[in-house]
Amino acid sequence: MGIQWFPGHMNVTKKAIAERIKEIDVVIELLDARLPGSSANPMLAQLTGTRAKLKVLNKQDLADPERTQLWLDWYNAQADTRAISLDASETAPAQRLIKACRELVPNRGGMAKPVRVLICGIPNVGKSTLMNTLVGKKAAKTGDEAGVTKIEQRINLASDFYLFDTPGMLWPKITIEKGGYHLAASGAVGRNAYDEEEVALELLTSLKGPYAPLLAARYKLDEVDRIPALHDEVLLTDIGRKRGAVMSGGRVNLQKAAEIVLNDFRSAIMGRITLETPEEFAQWAAAAAEMEAERQRKKEARSKKKGSGRRLDDDDTAPAE
Ligand code: G4P
Repeated sequence: MGIQWFPGHMNVTKKAIAERIKEIDVVIELLDARLPGSSANPMLAQLTGTRAKLKVLNKQDLADPERTQLWLDWYNAQADTRAISLDASETAPAQRLIKACRELVPNRGGMAKPVRVLICGIPNVGKSTLMNTLVGKKAAKTGDEAGVTKIEQRINLASDFYLFDTPGMLWPKITIEKGGYHLAASGAVGRNAYDEEEVALELLTSLKGPYAPLLAARYKLDEVDRIPALHDEVLLTDIGRKRGAVMSGGRVNLQKAAEIVLNDFRSAIMGRITLETPEEFAQWAAAAAEMEAERQRKKEARSKKKGSGRRLDDDDTAPAE
């Protein structure tokens, strides 16, 4: 079935970002460190083009530190791109953000050429929390001086450093099936867009290889070495049984078991987990691009056929003289 997610107002946001981007030096994209690839919006990459980019892997406290490092290295190796990781426990993240942005655009700075930064991120990635920290801390410190003034959607983090909030809502865009499941598992797409059992099974597919010991510990599963090879439904059934999600007659309630797994993942109760590596995500993206190209080829072939068919029909149906 997949994820049935059709966000509205994307065109309005796209236009608004395209307009704002003309006067922007650095684009900060806030990502969920547990799913950095899936929580990126591909539309943003199209809009920002060659502009300097700062990728902020937020919620690092929930993510696997080793995999966070892989993602940081991956982004830092890209042209005009820098990456840092962050979480809400960092009480003064402004200095790190400002430093990383300034390094990206060393020719900007000073009152005549302030660094103008746009911050974007899909909902639930932690943008409001970060913005509140940025505004709150600085405002509290500077008091009446108002070193930080929130004018419309702009925060002045320094006299020559302006941070603009995204105009409009940057909804997640699902172009990769696996990415859609990861977004759903993280809670970033609406509950009505997916089937919890299906998402939990996909989540277990992603977890059982790299995080079998965490699953075994959380659900008291035997034989940790066996977990990666288990069929997802068998694994979900085992988890349901261990957690008492059993209906009368002894059958496991898979819906209940799915809710348990999803809630446990979202609250990081199993431990620090990252669902995807850069290499994996690049492979999924390449496969999705290939599928899309194939779909386009078929579509064109169909419309060509239809076109030539129509001519044939026209001839066929021409009135007899
Ligand atoms: P948004 O503006 O991008 O939509 O996200 P928002 O800041 O509202 O954050 C979404 C949820 O993520 C909130 O939890 C928030 O507390 C949590 N969050 C934000 N940053 C971090 C972080 O670095 N680490 C962790 N662990 N959580 C973070 P919530 O349960 O929806 O609300 P709340 O009751 O916690 O406020």
